[in-house]
Formats: sequence, structure tokens, C-alpha cells
Amino acid sequence: MEDDIQEEVLSQFKERRLGGWQVLQLTAGTGLAVYAVWAGILMPGFRRVPLRLQVPYMPASRTQVSNVMTLLKGRSGGIADLGSGDGRIVLEACCQGFSPAVGYELNPWLVRLAYFHAWRAGQHRSVSYRREDLWKVDLSAYKNVTVFLAPSVLSLLQKKLLAELPEDALIVAGRFPFPDWTACKVEGDGVDRAWAYHIQELRHRYQSQDIHEETS
Ligand SMILES: C[S@@+](CC[C@H](N)C(=O)[O-])C[C@H]1O[C@@H](n2cnc3c(N)ncnc32)[C@H](O)[C@@H]1O
Repeated sequence: MEDDIQEEVLSQFKERRLGGWQVLQLTAGTGLAVYAVWAGILMPGFRRVPLRLQVPYMPASRTQVSNVMTLLKGRSGGIADLGSGDGRIVLEACCQGFSPAVGYELNPWLVRLAYFHAWRAGQHRSVSYRREDLWKVDLSAYKNVTVFLAPSVLSLLQKKLLAELPEDALIVAGRFPFPDWTACKVEGDGVDRAWAYHIQELRHRYQSQDIHEETS
């Protein structure tokens, strides 16, 4: 008896055609759900960041992390990962002796996850994950900076790094190179490639370009 009722309801549902109003409701509902996932889980904390500067979370692969570490070999001192996600680069850098090892990340879920990973590795007291907007952070104390961001923001980031980093700083970019800079070293292939840049070399190049433009 119950099965008959269920089948009848199901067949009625299948036969029903959706009207314009229902299509509108369905579209609005789906849009709202997508927005809720985007704003609540993927990009919380980004309300004050202009849309063109918002970069979604995409974690570095093991190979990418390893390529970044290869480019940092022989270096020491403090390191900052700009947009640190679940903290994997900061944690690896901390394990390899960089101190302080700091990640800047706006998504609070990822900051918590990063601390969880660090706690599991016994390093939660040695790393620091700060829920701060990378565009507002003063980078002048960092000799090493890692960046896994989108091409759309790299041009603006070049200006910030050139203005703030100390003369002996090294920048390592993963997945996408900086658009106007020439790397001093490259590691890996395809999507796993990482690029290293010496701030001193870049400043020299910019200065000699300026002199050349002034004299010509
Ligand atoms: C492509 S993911 C890279 C994550 C991590 N560095 C890695 O390689 O695994 C970029 C990260 O930057 C964060 N992010 C984007 N814009 C930011 C901002 N203005 N301030 C802080 N974090 C930001 C995102 O939430 C995201 O987790």
C-alpha cells in the first residue's frame, strides 16, 4: 500500500513540468547555495579585499613544495609565505630551520587547519599563522618570501616586494612566474616549476633601466 503511494507521488513529480517561476526559484536557490559555499567556506574573511585581488585556495603539491625548498637551499633567517593556505610551505620551511616561519592567510578555516598540521608534526610552537591580509603586511623583516598566487595579482605584488624587502631577500614563486622579472634560478617542470628572484639583482636592473631611459 505504502509502496503504491510512493510510486504515485514519484510519477506525479516526474510528470510535472517546471514553470517559469519555478525555474527562477531553482536558479536563485542554486546561485545562493554556490555563493554560500564561496563566501562561507572557500573565501571567508575576503569581504574587504577587492575582487580582482582575491585568490582562491589551491594547495601546492609535494613536488612544488620540494622545488621551493631546493631553491631556498643554503638560505636561513625568517620566511613568510604570502597566502599560506593549510600551511604546508611554512611547516616544511620550519622543519628545515627557517625561523621565524610565518604564514599570512585570510581564510580562518585554513589558519586552523595549518595549526592542526603543525601540532601533528610537533611544530605548533615554532610556526606562526596570522590571519592577516597579505597586502597590508609589512614585509621589511623577511629575508625569504614564498608566493603561490594567481597571475592577476603578481604584477601588483612585484611593486610591494621591491618597495619593502631587505636588500639580501630571496623571493620564490610557485606555479606562475612574476611577469616583469627574470629569475636567477628555476626548478622543476610544467605546473611544478618554481622561480627564485634576488631582490638586489632586480633593484640593480630597475636602476640601470631608469638611468638608460633618462640618458636616451
Ligand atoms: C593558491 S593558494 C596557495 C596556498 C599555499 N601557499 C600553498 O602553496 O599550498 C593561495 C592562498 O592565498 C590566500 N589569500 C589570497 N589572498 C589573500 C590575502 N589578501 N591575504 C591573505 N591570504 C590570501 C587564499 O586564501 C589561499 O589560501
